[in-house]
Amino acid sequence: MTENPAGGWSATDLDAVDLDDVDLFDAGFHAAGDPHLVWAAMRRRAPLHRQELPDGRAFWSVTRYEDACRVLGQHREFTSERGSLLQQLGRGDAAAGKMLVATDPPRHGELRRPLRALFSGASLAATEQRIRAAVHAVLRSVADDETWDVSEQAALLPMAAAAALMDLPEEDWPDLVRWTGMAAAPDDPVHRTGSSAATLAIAHHELFEYFAREARSRAGTEGEDLIRHLTSVCVDGTALTRDEVVVNCYSVLLGANATTPHTAAGTVLALARNPQVYRAVRENPELVPALVEEGLRWTSAAGSFLRHAVQDVELSGGLVPAGDAVAVWVGSANRDETVFADPERFLVPRPDNRHIAFGYGPHYCLGAAVGRLTLRVLFEEIVALVEEFEPTGPPRRLASNFVAGFTRLPVRTRLRADAHHRVATRARPL
Ligand code: HEM
Repeated sequence: MTENPAGGWSATDLDAVDLDDVDLFDAGFHAAGDPHLVWAAMRRRAPLHRQELPDGRAFWSVTRYEDACRVLGQHREFTSERGSLLQQLGRGDAAAGKMLVATDPPRHGELRRPLRALFSGASLAATEQRIRAAVHAVLRSVADDETWDVSEQAALLPMAAAAALMDLPEEDWPDLVRWTGMAAAPDDPVHRTGSSAATLAIAHHELFEYFAREARSRAGTEGEDLIRHLTSVCVDGTALTRDEVVVNCYSVLLGANATTPHTAAGTVLALARNPQVYRAVRENPELVPALVEEGLRWTSAAGSFLRHAVQDVELSGGLVPAGDAVAVWVGSANRDETVFADPERFLVPRPDNRHIAFGYGPHYCLGAAVGRLTLRVLFEEIVALVEEFEPTGPPRRLASNFVAGFTRLPVRTRLRADAHHRVATRARPL
């Protein structure tokens, strides 16, 4: 697939894409390369695009920013309770009304309100040191003039914050990361065990069992973590069931693990390909927060979400009939040329960066502050350590219609002259 030109696509490129032949459902399509040319063609020629699968299931795709915000933001028109991921198309969602992301307002607000404090303010500030220690572990294998693969090294990174939030022992992290990887991208050869359905079933079984055990052993005991909090909280005057506790723990862990490492990898790739941007950030570390925002927009790691129309809705001049499924392509919305000037350019700082990488509306990412903090600390440490990056081999993209990510991303790192002592004294394991 064509790599995206920084100056934008030509009309000839866009007209040449055969939109009848595009299969956005296919995980292999997303593994094959950058989908941005196809999305740009859809935004221009078919902003409301219908795809039917060989088994008769069908969904609409929206690729423009305004439509994406409408579908994600208007829960009265588009429900989250029949599945919020494309992989659930036609299957519904057993966690509807129980799990935050699969629940519509007003119950959604009742479930979300008691959790907010755990994801912000003092609770969050207290995790920064743990995140920094995890970042040091990610960077331990960075050496001068050597190849480093952030997609391999960063997999455990979100566990620092997630484990602090849920009080999860470090010896469990590798299993939890493996199972959430299987749940998020069951089609990818790195995660797949047997069929995609079997991979998903194993991942769900392991994660649900794990959190059920944790919830059982912690019920009624003292502590400030999310699991204890969920076992003791009342929603609409009623305690949550064990099932509700378990699916919400699952959702928080998946939310953290499926997205943060891929955002880190996508940002490193963009920096390796745009050395002048990296140089500017390295010389002006106060640009790191702006780099994080552009990395979020650029990568849009949580790449698609599903909704179902509750009533007939008009979008971009077409009609979505009540009951139909609609996929929102977040990565496309974040390159919409009517919202972002020069959207195919990796620009730090970007003055118009109203990206929706964390979603939009009631389900706006609960972990956004945690994700931002983790990425900020990672890139603060990277700019203090690395003089420059250079891609050393082709990246391997994740086979997934949900997560836009990488399973291989080798870059050669040259260390800063003043960073050699930092390598020698870098923190030991957590
Ligand atoms: C770069 C990192 C992240 C990205 C790009 C991201 C993206 C998103 C997006 C787009 C949604 C909206 C889903 C929808 O509309 O159906 C969402 C929801 C959510 N995210 Fe994140 N996320 C990130 C990090 C995290 C972290 C670190 C956590 C937990 C510690 C987390 C937990 C959640 C939860 C619980 C929800 C559901 C919120 C609700 O339904 O009210 N996310 N995330």
